[in-house]
Amino acid sequence: MRTIDWLDGSVRIIDQTRLPHTETHVDVHDVEDLIVHIRSLAVRGAMALGVAGAMGMALAATRAERDHLDMDGELAAAARLLVEARPTAANLAWGVGEIQKVRAAGADAAGIVAAALAVRDADLDANSALSERGARLLAGARRILTHCNAGALAGVEYGTALGVIGRLHATTGLDMVYVCETRPLLQGSRLTAWELGRHGIAHRVIVDSAAAGLILAGDVDAVVVGADRVAANGDVANKVGTLGHALAARHAGIPFVVAAPESTIDLGTPTGSDIPIEIRDEREVLEIDGRRVAAPGSLGWNPAFDITPSALVTAIVTEHRSLNDPRNDPRDDSRHPSPHD
Ligand code: MRU
Repeated sequence: MRTIDWLDGSVRIIDQTRLPHTETHVDVHDVEDLIVHIRSLAVRGAMALGVAGAMGMALAATRAERDHLDMDGELAAAARLLVEARPTAANLAWGVGEIQKVRAAGADAAGIVAAALAVRDADLDANSALSERGARLLAGARRILTHCNAGALAGVEYGTALGVIGRLHATTGLDMVYVCETRPLLQGSRLTAWELGRHGIAHRVIVDSAAAGLILAGDVDAVVVGADRVAANGDVANKVGTLGHALAARHAGIPFVVAAPESTIDLGTPTGSDIPIEIRDEREVLEIDGRRVAAPGSLGWNPAFDITPSALVTAIVTEHRSLNDPRNDPRDDSRHPSPHD
């Protein structure tokens, strides 16, 4: 089952807003509709957004060719709208950029569709390789805490943080995965718990605010999360709440590992404070299932991501390397020993 795929000229996605109770696929026929699904988080997660960016451009290109429109004008408009849809996610802009490169080299609509399919296929290979590397780094850790969803649902068929967790489960074994529910949209309890259940991996869902106590009580061996953007200095943007887990992990002296493909590293963004943070509708905080729960008249504030400074990150694990500073750590260098050695 693929989170996102290309089928007969359309983009097929699993509608993640309806999980875990209903498994539905939606076929998206134009880039405007895809953007609605990106904004609603029907398709979400760093790598899935990268593929959505590339496939959104493929939708725009096929329409331009079919309707005899100005291909470059259509692609430029689509690129702008796609990148603005989720401004923190480096992969969305990266996926769009991959298509802009092949167009600049002269690709027609068929060539652009082929390039979008290559972005999809590269995601599968990268996640499987980085999961292997992450599991080697954390060999021996039996109790893992994770936040949000960095699983297959955040990619095409294979996750990053959950890829590492899956490899640990299959190799050295795991006793427990603590899944932070991830307020306000509950990607942890709805999506990560669903994925772990399907793989038979023992897990418990906790409220986000239980994590620090659990970590300081010595009940967690390592924290593993994904990333939405890694700045050039190694600062990491991930789902809001991640920073608190990193602080607790540092205090407890346990590893805090970020699993992300190279496409999430944005060398054009110098530091975490240069990463734009997506601010979402305050109703996601003030309401539950469309019913207001906050006191009448209270305002909300809903940043979707926070920044974990590089100093709190034990290692960023990609398909090519295990690193702390993207500017200095060469590819193919696994110089970080396992914290459990
Ligand atoms: O708002 P979301 O659900 O798209 O946020 C997703 C996350 O923060 C994930 O942790 C991140 O994309 C990493 S997924 C490999």
